Amino acid sequence: MSRPRVLLGVTGGIAAYKSTDVVRRLIERGCEVKCALTRSAGSFVTPLSLEVLSGHAVYEQEYLTANGRGEESHIVAAQWADAVCVAPATAHLMARLALGLADDFLTTTLLAFTGPVLLAPAMHSDMWSHAATAAHVETLSNRGVHFVGPEEGPLASGEVGVGRMSEPVDVAEAVMRLAVSGGAGVTGALAGRRVLISAGPTHEPIDPVRYLGNRSSGKMGFALAAEAARQGASTTLVAGPVALPTPAGVERIDVTTAFEMRDAVYRHAGEAELIVMTAAVADFRPSSPAGGKIKRARGVPTLELEENPDILAGLPEVAPRALLVGFAAETEPSVEEATAKLARKGADFLIWNDVSRSDIGFGAENNEVTVYSRSGEPSHLERRPKEELAVALIDLFRDALEDRERSAVGTAG
Ligand code: C5P
Repeated sequence: MSRPRVLLGVTGGIAAYKSTDVVRRLIERGCEVKCALTRSAGSFVTPLSLEVLSGHAVYEQEYLTANGRGEESHIVAAQWADAVCVAPATAHLMARLALGLADDFLTTTLLAFTGPVLLAPAMHSDMWSHAATAAHVETLSNRGVHFVGPEEGPLASGEVGVGRMSEPVDVAEAVMRLAVSGGAGVTGALAGRRVLISAGPTHEPIDPVRYLGNRSSGKMGFALAAEAARQGASTTLVAGPVALPTPAGVERIDVTTAFEMRDAVYRHAGEAELIVMTAAVADFRPSSPAGGKIKRARGVPTLELEENPDILAGLPEVAPRALLVGFAAETEPSVEEATAKLARKGADFLIWNDVSRSDIGFGAENNEVTVYSRSGEPSHLERRPKEELAVALIDLFRDALEDRERSAVGTAG
């Protein structure tokens, strides 16, 4: 997928200074961003800051303009964006939008835009609770406009109340999910869920230039992360050393060794409802990596190895409520071994792939797997591109999550 495109509207409130941070966070997450300022926003944040941060000229026209190619700018902008976010959104902007007024660039673009819209309101709590504002918010919600915040906390006036703009990182994540999923970020099958995925190999240093590693390309895990994000999940990908671009809408944490991977996975595991360990974690690491490069002239070194932590096996304790999925890359499939491994790791699912075949598994574009679960018969997913397999697997995990929740409700009832 190409980079998600976000049009960020900025209106004239004191929180407008935070819009620069929203731009920064969106760019960090791989989005392309263009900004549109209302007339009063320019009193709080300069077009120059937003232009430099976004890398695009800022729209600040009050009225319609053409772009020199006979096209109206607001139509071009509306067709360009995957999602439009207004942060901060003042009471005035929401009123204009609710009424369908189109008296500047931002509001004409919003009227011409057919994709997902996210508003991050910011105002004094008395303005937020005013009946007029409440009515406009209701109208907009009924029309499918999404909201993030406002939050309770200190206001510009020095008082405390509901009206603070949500943190830029939360605004950026919410709009990015909308942009990636075409609106599924709120309504998608995995909306509101947190998914954690590990991918790729780990490299265990022998000396500063050499390492022990394996041939995992990371493709399967990256495809799963892309699909989880597409279905609206807040997705974190812990990636070993691989040469793959970050999927749209995914928060990526790069690690090198098994220890680093364990730390990153355990740090995020507590909040995740689904954890998929596709990483091919090195089982062993050199006990004492050399501080300097080992010289050839010194002769063949003897490497002493020790065992790495089993990240997956530790997860039932770290994330007792999460659905846990392991991957097994083996050369000889065996039902007994798969069943034993499921039990040993405390995982709910084990996805078994045969790495002895060159047309599937490590580094290949396609994969074919057998799914073992603790609760049912194994099922086989025929050979297909890893992206397609990722859709089937994420659907399967999502169904399992939903089944588990239904049975928990049943038990409680
Ligand atoms: O034991 P084995 O390596 O076959 O198990 C594979 C599964 O366990 C994969 O999901 C892998 O990510 C995970 N694993 C792990 N930590 C290790 C080794 C494997 O989490 N040290």
